[in-house]
Amino acid sequence: MICAAIFDMDGVIVDTAKYHYQAWRRLAAELGFEFTEADNERLKGVSRMQSLEILLEVGGFGGSAFTEGRKEEMAAQKNEWYVEYISRMTPDEILPGVLSFLEQVRAAGVRTALGSASRNTGIILDRLKIRDLFDTVVDGTMVTRTKPDPEVFLKCASLLGGDLFPTQCVVFEDAAAGIEAARAGGMYSVGIGNPDILREADFVIPGFAGISWWEIEKRLSIKANE
Ligand code: BG6
Ligand code: MG
Repeated sequence: MICAAIFDMDGVIVDTAKYHYQAWRRLAAELGFEFTEADNERLKGVSRMQSLEILLEVGGFGGSAFTEGRKEEMAAQKNEWYVEYISRMTPDEILPGVLSFLEQVRAAGVRTALGSASRNTGIILDRLKIRDLFDTVVDGTMVTRTKPDPEVFLKCASLLGGDLFPTQCVVFEDAAAGIEAARAGGMYSVGIGNPDILREADFVIPGFAGISWWEIEKRLSIKANE
């Protein structure tokens, strides 16, 4: 029986990828190259510093083209722009179906957690006014290892209560690294988005619009009996 539902934030609750993209593209432009939306796909679920490494690689800058100090400065600049964009977000940007799905989960007595790599989780939850819908929140400031390491999800489970087994938890994720993290933690996983990218998930749904908690629970109990 599933007792806890753990949600990734970026790409699951809200589409922040477009704001990350605007900020990374601005940095690339300053460095003199174009960063495309297809390149941006590679940054989903990836930490800020790892994202910068990918961006520099796309720009043709080798691993040692910049000092660590300069890279920290570039990441800080990107984040400043990103925070400027997300500080204007409104609750209208919560992805379709998310609110009613969360309400159903809570009404079913299932505990809820948010587990995100983002260090900006607090700002986004406040802008969207949904902090209260989660029993616990674990963000990028609270973990030392990034997805695909399961640390963020295991921490969610332990904060939800020491009595939870990983097999009683389901993780909702839009990034392959996040699905891998859930699996590494021994939890069920539901992919949100493209089944070709999320093929390691127990199953994939396009989003929460028109999806009920009971349907998810049923599909997971079938999985458990396979
Ligand atoms: C993840 C996003 O949730 O958070 C990544 O999918 C992002 O694209 C990462 O790089 C870190 O976010 P932030 O807000 O700490 O820069
Ligand atoms: Mg995500």
